[in-house]
Amino acid sequence: MTFTANPRRTRLALAELTPDILDRTDGFGLTATDAGPAGHPSPRDVRAWVAEIAELTQPDRIVWCDGSAAEKQRLIDEMVEAGTLVKLAEDKRPNSYLARSNPSDVARVESRTFICSEHEEDAGPTNNWCDPATMRDELDGVFEGSMRGRTMYVVPFSMGPVGGPISQVGVEITDSPYVVVSMHVMTRVSPRVVDLIDGGQQWVPAVHSVGAPLAEGEEDVAWPCNDDKYIVHYPESREIWSYGSGYGGNALLGKKCFALRIASAMARDEGWLAEHMLLIRVTSPEQRQYHLAAAFPSACGKTNLAMLQPTVPGWTVETLGDDIVWMRPGPDGSLRAINPEAGFFGVAPGTGPETNPTAIETLTHDVIFTNVALTDDGDVWWEGLTPEPPEHLIDWRGDDWTPDSDRPAAHPNSRFTVAAAQCPTIADGWEDPAGVPVDAIVFGGRRASNVPLVTQATSWEHGVFMGATISSERTAAAEGAVGELRRDPFAMLPFCGYNMADHWAHWLRVAGLVDDARRPKIFQVNWFRKDADGAFVWPGFGENSRVVKWIAEQIDRSRGIRTDRGAVTSPLGLLPAPGALDTTGLDLTDAELDALFDVPAEAWLAETDLTEEFFARFGDHLPEEMTRQLERLRSRLR
Ligand code: GTP
Ligand code: SPV
Ligand code: MN
Repeated sequence: MTFTANPRRTRLALAELTPDILDRTDGFGLTATDAGPAGHPSPRDVRAWVAEIAELTQPDRIVWCDGSAAEKQRLIDEMVEAGTLVKLAEDKRPNSYLARSNPSDVARVESRTFICSEHEEDAGPTNNWCDPATMRDELDGVFEGSMRGRTMYVVPFSMGPVGGPISQVGVEITDSPYVVVSMHVMTRVSPRVVDLIDGGQQWVPAVHSVGAPLAEGEEDVAWPCNDDKYIVHYPESREIWSYGSGYGGNALLGKKCFALRIASAMARDEGWLAEHMLLIRVTSPEQRQYHLAAAFPSACGKTNLAMLQPTVPGWTVETLGDDIVWMRPGPDGSLRAINPEAGFFGVAPGTGPETNPTAIETLTHDVIFTNVALTDDGDVWWEGLTPEPPEHLIDWRGDDWTPDSDRPAAHPNSRFTVAAAQCPTIADGWEDPAGVPVDAIVFGGRRASNVPLVTQATSWEHGVFMGATISSERTAAAEGAVGELRRDPFAMLPFCGYNMADHWAHWLRVAGLVDDARRPKIFQVNWFRKDADGAFVWPGFGENSRVVKWIAEQIDRSRGIRTDRGAVTSPLGLLPAPGALDTTGLDLTDAELDALFDVPAEAWLAETDLTEEFFARFGDHLPEEMTRQLERLRSRLR
């Protein structure tokens, strides 16, 4: 099978994707040589591409990175010298560092994130679209000379184990040593990636500049960036260009830009899934294993669930990933998943010994913290780490802070960057290139009302409808008003590299690529329901294991392993039958339990009207199945 220039013409009908084809590891014949759409051929040769970008951006020097520990330490030492990193006290937090970003560069910039597909409708109504030729012209000007006075690093990286059948490779060019060191933690940086590219493997070129060229003799600042920002994706030619930010998903281009936006477009064309999900292995007291992938919007608890320490006796949870999952129909008829990342870039505030003891243990050494507070004894602090704040801190801006200060000490989107390998609950075999078979897919969000603690979809199609209609209160992970309720289908609103409605259609098709008996069951959860006083009704965190247990038992029931009654029907889907959710030892009244599962019909009917309006935005891209599901929901509510 060959792949020619225009994906619109050559997009594979999924019916053509036989298991034989799905087994191939060479990107379905797609190579870097023929990956580009007409007029903008992707680079054939990585060295020629590096030379071309160097000519455009004019760095002082070029360094090819090898991903070694020595390279990482050298860059860290240089950043400590330059004031970009503060070394934390060795006796408190060995090999750990603190970075403070510019206050204008603290989160993803969704308003400056672009999907530049050839056709606007392929970006869809939920993405910022710009004509690719226009954007290329604009970026040529923006990047011209943007690395002057700086070092250009060439970072060959793999998402997923190098050479694995579900893995993909890329090369990030960046003028930020902070980004290089972060890529060491978050991806697999290796010269072997260049060998794979030389061997013809499909690869993603990614250019990043902080957009702060230095004039001759000009002194650098601790966190260079630019007020003008561009996070640009060309989904057809699989390219990324990022300018002006050094922070997180804006700059670590393997993460959101590649592993979600570009990879989702690849996945659409190639018959797999790239999703904003955590991945865990759950083991029951009978030693049965279940793999769960769960999509929650940014800062809605993926890291917490990924590192869950169950309170229900006999159950264990192992961590596979906390942010991104790639799933591919496997040769055994199951949907096989990997975490393409090698580290965690997790939200610090709210992470404490009560809420996430596993994270606290993970963070004892070899961590890069960004925008948390510094204690007087050279350690870090953030809201939620301890019940009482220290008497004095240096806050995330570098200013003195006391408990009387009227602003948080750590930025609400402050983060830790840490290797997954040092997580005490990391799963055995977590780097298996073949991945794990997914048994359940879970959707969630922050909803103060309406959405029950847990609901099971009655079919794959109903589950896709659940994912498509997720709303969630906005968090500090991106710019914008925190708390505002917004649609976040599949928790992918900021991350889908193509038309969101086509993403739903793709999910509907993928079901057919997996054996009936191995197809994951789909659930929706909501830990965030509030009472009249605004307090969370459900205790959350470790207690979420009770919901995980019910999900696992429902999977057993679907396989005939259990025959007791686990669920009752409701207009929204299946809810736990009385007594089926293990609440033993929980301090929860019957009224509170009822409140967690209340389905207010009036409010839901109003919500279906909003869903209809939302769906209408997608025009004829909306799969008919979604309209059918909406009508069925309405009639059940009535
Ligand atoms: P990204 O990394 O931004 O994609 O987000 P994430 O989903 O991994 O976010 P994370 O797990 O770091 O979410 C952190 C926030 O969710 C913190 O404020 C936590 O306190 C809160 N949180 C997580 N689990 C629960 C829970 O069970 N109950 C409540 N009330 N809050 C929770
Ligand atoms: C998110 O916002 O969903 C994150 C953090 O995981 S970032 O990588 O900055 O996008
Ligand atoms: Mn995320």
